Amino acid sequence: MLSRRQSEWHHVVFPRRKMNLLKYLLGVFIFVLTAFCGMVSNAIPPLIINIPVVYRSVSFNGFVNLIIIIFWAISIYKSIRLYFNIVKNPKSWIANNLAYMIDTLKLYDEENFESIKNDKVVREKRIVRVIRIQYRETSKHVVVRILRDGDRFTKEATKLGENLEAALGLELDSTNKTVDYAEYVFLKHKDERIDLNSTVTNVNDSDEIKITGNISYELHKVPHSLIVGGTGSGKSFFILGKIVNYLKLTPQADLRIIDPKKADLSLLRFVTGFENKVATDANQICRILRETVELMERRYTEYFNDISAFGKTYRDFNLPIVIVIFDEFSAFMHSVDKKIAKEALDYVFTLVMKGRQAGVMIEILMQRPSADDLPTNIRAQMGFKAGLGAMDSIGYNMIFDTKNVEYKTVTEKGGGYIQLDGKHTSPVYFETPYIDKDFDFIAEIEKLMIQRAN
Ligand SMILES: Nc1ncnc2c1ncn2[C@@H]1O[C@H](COP(=O)(O)OP(=O)(O)O)[C@@H](O)[C@H]1O
Ligand SMILES: [Mg+2]
Repeated sequence: MLSRRQSEWHHVVFPRRKMNLLKYLLGVFIFVLTAFCGMVSNAIPPLIINIPVVYRSVSFNGFVNLIIIIFWAISIYKSIRLYFNIVKNPKSWIANNLAYMIDTLKLYDEENFESIKNDKVVREKRIVRVIRIQYRETSKHVVVRILRDGDRFTKEATKLGENLEAALGLELDSTNKTVDYAEYVFLKHKDERIDLNSTVTNVNDSDEIKITGNISYELHKVPHSLIVGGTGSGKSFFILGKIVNYLKLTPQADLRIIDPKKADLSLLRFVTGFENKVATDANQICRILRETVELMERRYTEYFNDISAFGKTYRDFNLPIVIVIFDEFSAFMHSVDKKIAKEALDYVFTLVMKGRQAGVMIEILMQRPSADDLPTNIRAQMGFKAGLGAMDSIGYNMIFDTKNVEYKTVTEKGGGYIQLDGKHTSPVYFETPYIDKDFDFIAEIEKLMIQRAN
């Protein structure tokens, strides 16, 4: 655990404060202490005690002097240690590295000054303005704020992500911009891609799902998700991995698959237990959505219809979570006639607005985020949002409803940005759980279905 002191904001001082004054103070302290000890030693009256039995007198002055010398030595040792602790504080490595960055990037302004020394005009440069940087440390993050004071650093402040990453040697997790400052949040421990096998936490009653080493969430708290990404960005691998997770939950999730392009997901119709749960044509799709809405309404009348259900959710009744996975959502909306599109959209809207308590959720996958295809009122209810693959800022802004976030170019297959309600205040970079190329989804899903059926 970090102490309170460490979690407070610190200012980066540039140029680094010269420690001359401190050295001088240390010298003065040692001198005064030595003089004081000498005086004390001299001022003590002779301590001579006559011991009656042996008729001799014993002097204790040597003993007192020894104590004074020990006191003197310990004080000096402590003050020198304190001095070195202040000068080379190991915890201020952040301040040191940031000061070094200010220096190398010349994030300060100098002006020429003329002064007269010994009847000669001396020109010298003095620092008149320095970028203002603050930082704060928590157990998992280092947070750096560049203050925006209206000088030339105000613009610079929002463009320092890469330089800060290099200066601190830490991975940038998220950024945030206000009128007053630009904030950069760094991970102290690098986030790691995990293997699909380690994504479900097999603890009783837990519906926790791990996405990466640092990111995990409880399914019931983050209902409804939106996954966006172009072809080849890793959407199918991500969702197939999630399906494997969902089937490992207790009670096992009840899944319904919508795949209007008859692609990867539609193959699940050959798996026992999925026969009536995979839809590929428009009528089937509307039927599956309608049936799911009906199931949700039934749950409300059966379980949530009187006062005893107050504050309860589907988990209190041990009901399985129902998840509709809707692939190629925007392609579907464009390929069907308006009436069917409206019908489907109405069902989706109902599920999104009312599904949470009853344990009915929807996952929408699409290639391009477009405000027309997925209305804001639906998007706003998505607690889990991910954008995979390379994307322009318009795309990101549409998914995450945030602006002023610095995104790096995604090159890794399955890499992208994610934002979870209640976890992230702005999108963070992540990589989907890694899946070996020999992994046989259909076989794995078949196995899980049979295991649970018995
Ligand atoms: N999590 C992952 N682990 C391993 N390989 C991946 C992962 N995600 C994507 N890939 C690779 O990228 C390719 C395209 O991914 P895919 O999920 O089919 O993209 P999309 O469905 O978005 O078109 C896959 O065939 C696979 O080789
Ligand atoms: Mg795909």
